[in-house]
Amino acid sequence: MSRLVIVSNRVAVPGESRAGGLAVALRAALAETGGLWFGWSGKIDPDRSGFVREQSEGNIRYVTMDLSRRDHEDYYNGFANRTLWPLLHFRMDLVDYSRETYAGYLRVNALFAEKLAPLLADDDIVWVHDYHLIPLAKLLREKGVRARLGFFLHVPMPSSDLLAALPDHRRLFEGLSQYDLVGFQTDRDLERFQDYVRLFGGGRVVEPGVLEAPGGRRLRAGAFPISIDTAHIARQAEAAVGKASVKRLQASLANRALAIGVDRLDYSKGLPERFRAFERFLKRHPQHVGRLTFLQIAPVSRGEVAEYRSLRNELEQLAGHINGSHAEPDWTPVRYVNRNYPHPTLTGFYRLAQVGLVTPLRDGMNLVAKEFVASQNPDDPGVLVLSTFAGAARELDAALLVNPFDIDGVADAIARALLMPRAERRERWLAMMKKLLAHDITHWRRSFLDALRDAERQFDFDP
Ligand code: G6P
Repeated sequence: MSRLVIVSNRVAVPGESRAGGLAVALRAALAETGGLWFGWSGKIDPDRSGFVREQSEGNIRYVTMDLSRRDHEDYYNGFANRTLWPLLHFRMDLVDYSRETYAGYLRVNALFAEKLAPLLADDDIVWVHDYHLIPLAKLLREKGVRARLGFFLHVPMPSSDLLAALPDHRRLFEGLSQYDLVGFQTDRDLERFQDYVRLFGGGRVVEPGVLEAPGGRRLRAGAFPISIDTAHIARQAEAAVGKASVKRLQASLANRALAIGVDRLDYSKGLPERFRAFERFLKRHPQHVGRLTFLQIAPVSRGEVAEYRSLRNELEQLAGHINGSHAEPDWTPVRYVNRNYPHPTLTGFYRLAQVGLVTPLRDGMNLVAKEFVASQNPDDPGVLVLSTFAGAARELDAALLVNPFDIDGVADAIARALLMPRAERRERWLAMMKKLLAHDITHWRRSFLDALRDAERQFDFDP
């Protein structure tokens, strides 16, 4: 059997607990098959990129690379997170483009190719992840790599008009088309990509899922919704309620209901809107005042990017305002926590909650939504309030679906969740849990890798 090689900017090296969905999912996907995980070490060297670190744990070998301050600034803070991230999340207003950061993005991708190519064998299956590494296939092929190359985009594919506003969109697309298979989170993302190929990319859709790039190169594309290790999380949550940290949270609630949100501190997650919706809920449904506590866990993310810093200030103000206006000596309506918690503890928190608030303005999938469902007590499950703009809403349509821009609507959904009869809660939960058990992380990995094995390898050089 061929070896699986995963490449991503963020690598969950042993001992590191990260809040990002990508690292959580890839760790679960690699645990079963083993293989190599290659990416950024998370470390910054003051002046030199490319120092390689290596370690192994179980059946996984981790090879990671340091980045210089400048490369990190141009590639990660710059083109990846100040240009592509807002663009891919439909936030044209926040896009900051410069040729300099684009050059840094290409420079770091070339460095990934340089360090990775010598580690690869022809029969490896190489699976590259996310927007940081779109040009990597082209650069690997230029180095003579013959392994199969697949790409998965964890974030949304925006409408084609938005993508076409990016000065380098044609070159990025050309790079993307060097992969043998490109995967998206949902059928909607795939449709938007196909629109882009036809309208702006200079290519054509040969048949659904088979695209032709300018110059005649064919590329396979499909929707592969990412998921979680459902059965494992359900067991973990059941066990976690015995943990000291979970018991402490429970005791501190003093029999009040709990609404929980867990998100990286990111403007795509709709946090200010969620805080406002919670305050609106207190105003519109005064019978619940003093009876529901809202816990928002939001670990700081990408703190060197200005938009993330201003979001943090805004949330601090909002939390302070809501608590100042509504708190009582024995009740704090909003508990706002910037810390990160170990994954098993979070599942215990989810299980305690009557309401899960997952209300991003845009999200590729959102694994918190799936984990919240998998963590519930089957006899007495909590209710998921889920944004229709999260990829997860395509499968989790038995959640209370909301438009996160409709503050009154979200406020009313919180009230509806609290009053929902147990029979309805169980019915909705069961419908979602069935899907999550059938379509878990193993299903995701297998369906992508099977499609990649079936895809034809094409080389622009003579193999
Ligand atoms: C999202 C992205 C991932 C990223 C994660 C955490 O899930 O799709 O690629 O790893 O956020 O962000 P960070 O910038 O800390 O890696």
